[in-house]
Amino acid sequence: MTAPVVDVHDVRVWYAGPNGPVQAVDGVTFALRPGEVLGLVGESGCGKSTLGRGLMGLVPRGAAIDGDVEFDGRHLLGLSKKEREKIRGPGMALIFQEPMTRLDPLMKISDHFTEVLHVHEPKLSKSEMRDRALDALRSLGIPPTRYDNYPHEFSGGMRQRIMIALALALRPKFIIADEPTTALDVLVEAQILNILADIRQTYAPAILLITHNLGIVAEACDRVAVMYAGRIVEQGPVRDVFAKPRHPYTQALLRSTISLKTQELNSIAGAPPDLVRPPTGCRFHPRCAHAMQVCVDKLPPLIVEGVQQAECWLLASGLSEAQRRPLQREEVSVADEA
Ligand SMILES: Nc1ncnc2c1ncn2[C@@H]1O[C@H](COP(=O)(O)OP(=O)(O)OP(=O)(O)O)[C@@H](O)[C@H]1O
Ligand code: SF4
Ligand SMILES: [Mg+2]
Repeated sequence: MTAPVVDVHDVRVWYAGPNGPVQAVDGVTFALRPGEVLGLVGESGCGKSTLGRGLMGLVPRGAAIDGDVEFDGRHLLGLSKKEREKIRGPGMALIFQEPMTRLDPLMKISDHFTEVLHVHEPKLSKSEMRDRALDALRSLGIPPTRYDNYPHEFSGGMRQRIMIALALALRPKFIIADEPTTALDVLVEAQILNILADIRQTYAPAILLITHNLGIVAEACDRVAVMYAGRIVEQGPVRDVFAKPRHPYTQALLRSTISLKTQELNSIAGAPPDLVRPPTGCRFHPRCAHAMQVCVDKLPPLIVEGVQQAECWLLASGLSEAQRRPLQREEVSVADEA
């Protein structure tokens, strides 16, 4: 098996908040090999984007990041901002959801490409830069005749594809795509997923695909990581996790997607917790139908079962009778307020 290109160990991110630090990412560990696509899913506010940006060292002023992100043999979080910026672009690329916020409306598309390539690959001649840019645009279905247009002359879907082409012109080894298709219509979404599949075939980058859409995960990802309240509570190959989810949150998330048979949407009761004062023990316990006494008292251990792993006391052995005692709903609210 090839070595991971990205090795993330115990990463934590805190934001400064008026009521105390917001623990948005709390001890995340995973690895990605070249050519592998990992889908990152979970309800809104559970820390997906914070994690995606944190891996690139992008945290806002006042926020703190801790842990280890090893990329291509280098420990990123120990590097200076300048050193990290050198790696971003040719090494790692982040594709955001809102393309307009990242393309300068006063610059032609050609200028955007020249700027990016000039910074990261200064040895390329002008004509080589142009060839590289046109190749990237063509692979995303943008005709060369549009090279000198301005961002506002394109549709939203085209701008999104241009953003992706800009990121891909540098052939990054690691791509973080944060909900790249959420604002797009179904056709453009399908195009972008096809493009990601093509890129995998041609130069095999590792991809972290952040999405709310479990259908996209089923279609485009090899593995899936389920995030809840700042932690990855379950991860494994998509086929295994979808066929036999081990963690009650994953089970609830899978049930919450519309069933084609019944056309019913079962949303998960309750809401994700406040990350300033998260619940003790397992953060999911106030919403979990299987919660036991131990779930309130202690963080669940990571249990590895073959290729799948999940953090849940239900999977642990050797619990005492007192620890296994089912939690009553009224106890949950008391525990929560404590
Ligand atoms: N700049 C910030 N300052 C303070 N708190 C923040 C900031 N950005 C995000 N948060 C908080 O951090 C937590 C995680 O937010 P994040 O945007 O990472 O979630 P997400 O999983 O990407 O959500 P979504 O699915 O809605 O995009 C949330 O509680 C959010 O309110
Ligand atoms: S550890 Fe307990 S509360 Fe958490 S998901 Fe498992 S059973 Fe539910
Ligand atoms: Mg997000």
